[in-house]
Amino acid sequence: MQKRISPASRITGEIVLPGDKSISHRYAMIAAVAEGETHIRNYSTGADCHSTLGCVRALGIEVTGAGTEFVIHGKGLDGLRQPAADLNAGNSGSTIRMLSGMLAAQPFTTRIFGDASLSGRPMQRILTPLGQMGAHITARDGKFPPLEIQGGPLKAIDYTLPVPSAQVKTCVLFAGLFAEGETSVTEPVRSRDHTELALREFGAEITVVRNRITLAGRPKLTGRELVVPSDLSSAAFFIVAALLTPGSRLSIGGVGLNPTRAALLDFLIGMGARIRVPNLESSNGELVGDLVVEHSALRGGVMEGALTAALIDEIPVLAVLGAATEEGLIVKDASELRIKETDRIRTVIDNLRRMGVTAEELPDGMVIPGRQRFHAAQLDSCGDHRIAMAFAVAALGGDGDSVIDGAEAASVSFPEFWATLAGICG
Ligand code: S3P
Repeated sequence: MQKRISPASRITGEIVLPGDKSISHRYAMIAAVAEGETHIRNYSTGADCHSTLGCVRALGIEVTGAGTEFVIHGKGLDGLRQPAADLNAGNSGSTIRMLSGMLAAQPFTTRIFGDASLSGRPMQRILTPLGQMGAHITARDGKFPPLEIQGGPLKAIDYTLPVPSAQVKTCVLFAGLFAEGETSVTEPVRSRDHTELALREFGAEITVVRNRITLAGRPKLTGRELVVPSDLSSAAFFIVAALLTPGSRLSIGGVGLNPTRAALLDFLIGMGARIRVPNLESSNGELVGDLVVEHSALRGGVMEGALTAALIDEIPVLAVLGAATEEGLIVKDASELRIKETDRIRTVIDNLRRMGVTAEELPDGMVIPGRQRFHAAQLDSCGDHRIAMAFAVAALGGDGDSVIDGAEAASVSFPEFWATLAGICG
């Protein structure tokens, strides 16, 4: 699908966005192994989170509801059943990596596969800790999906993550749910902590001391009523669009502002962004607030280390923003970007250059000088949802109509993206 994007004169309105992708995955998976019904409201509409629901159903768990409200009829830690067919994780790294932790502990064998992009993404990072816990998993070429997971009893471990990855942390903690004793995970830098908060909501005993998380195995998890906050990573596209476009003022309601995700706001405000959070409350252990964003002149900045890890999903749209700042943007320590849905260093640089924007590619990052203009261009998502949406934002600042090929990719996390965008561009 192609989308034609015209330059925007200003971005205005009040929008509400779909539920957070990371939180939706976790709620659905934990609910499946909790006892009793979990009611989830504002569940993500993205295809990735529906891949998770499909897998949960295939594992013998009844899921009722539609749209954004689902009831998961959990059957407890020993309630999953061998699926009749291979599980399909679609495009979703979160589904395959996190669910594998649970599958490794089952008294049956499961095969799980994904689409072409997922089939090229590394799984070694979960195979190593799960192997240490006693799991038997085979992968294509020893490291790629499909995975064949021969489940069985697992041992608790004390694992130090070599890469900052919330998916891997979650995989190990999910496996640890089924092991006797305490499973600990130590992270190089603190990654998003939705798993810790969600497990606690469902009744697990979790302690966190600095970067070390410890879970007591075989907890009694109980079904609950949950509301998923709106996705800050989806909001990021509209935040940047409003910051870039003169005369803009945009309100975004009920956004998840978990401190392990909200580095985005600190980074932008540090550059001079006019962003207010008029109210903030706690919901199911997660912080949620409204955002008001106004057009702002931005200085630009440098992203490295823990900050890069915290902003990893927002880098494509921040790269777009960087070109329009005073001093530009430098991104370092971002080699993880090369193994996302696409090599996002390449796909960002390629699309920036198509728009006539100068950008330098680094092995683990990029340098984007500031004060640049976006020229209308033919752009390509390369099948990556965040690239499609980031360059829709760039196209709003173009000097004519741009066309985005592969625009349908946005549906992976945000099927309503194009309609929402049209609604705020007047
Ligand atoms: C996610 C963690 C991140 C992120 C992904 C969602 C999660 O991946 O990029 O979009 O929900 O835990 P990594 O764990 O690979 O860093």
